Amino acid sequence: MKGHFIVFEGIDGAGLTTNSKFLVDWLNSIGIRAWYTKEPTQGTIGLYIRKLLKSGADPFLLTLLFTADRKEHMENEVIPKIRDGIFVVCDRYLFSTIAYQSAHGAKEELIRRLNKNFLKPDLVFLLDIDPSISLNRKQAEKESYERKEFLEKVRRKFLELASDEGFIVIPTDRPLNEIQEDIKKVMKYFLEEVGYAQEKV
Ligand code: TMP
Repeated sequence: MKGHFIVFEGIDGAGLTTNSKFLVDWLNSIGIRAWYTKEPTQGTIGLYIRKLLKSGADPFLLTLLFTADRKEHMENEVIPKIRDGIFVVCDRYLFSTIAYQSAHGAKEELIRRLNKNFLKPDLVFLLDIDPSISLNRKQAEKESYERKEFLEKVRRKFLELASDEGFIVIPTDRPLNEIQEDIKKVMKYFLEEVGYAQEKV
């Protein structure tokens, strides 16, 4: 059985972790081996990035660090699992670097060049939500007008990428069961396309 690489992207509070974990559980429940993973990772570089994010580091430095974290992540975890026939579901990937770090002023062309050799996902879900709604979900960030403006910029970039690169856009300002039904619908279609027996799904 062939492994696949599925990515979830979106702004903070769009529901990436809940829904990517949901997809992994659902795939496992229908007998398809699936694995949840996330960027930034819990490795040395990923943990260092989390510290820097709190203090608002330089976007070029963050681009380099996210890319280094990704290289380790791909080599040590994602690629071996896919080779082993597993569906790897990744909560954020290089499109987050393009959207977030370019919104902070890093050159998109440079981000793309640094990230050009990473594996292309088989399927990308963009979970889309208005930042004024997602920030209300993340109570701690509720107050910051600056953060809202920044996330609006990131959201516009994600939507632009979605139309250029063919992501599946799922609006997440609605009940979770509706969102997850849509994710399942897309996945069923994908599974048919890649030749999984329909009766299993
Ligand atoms: P998280 O909330 O998904 O754990 O991610 C932490 C923050 O890191 C989030 O605000 C998005 C940001 N981020 C980037 O700025 N660039 C990246 O390449 C990635 C993967 C995340």
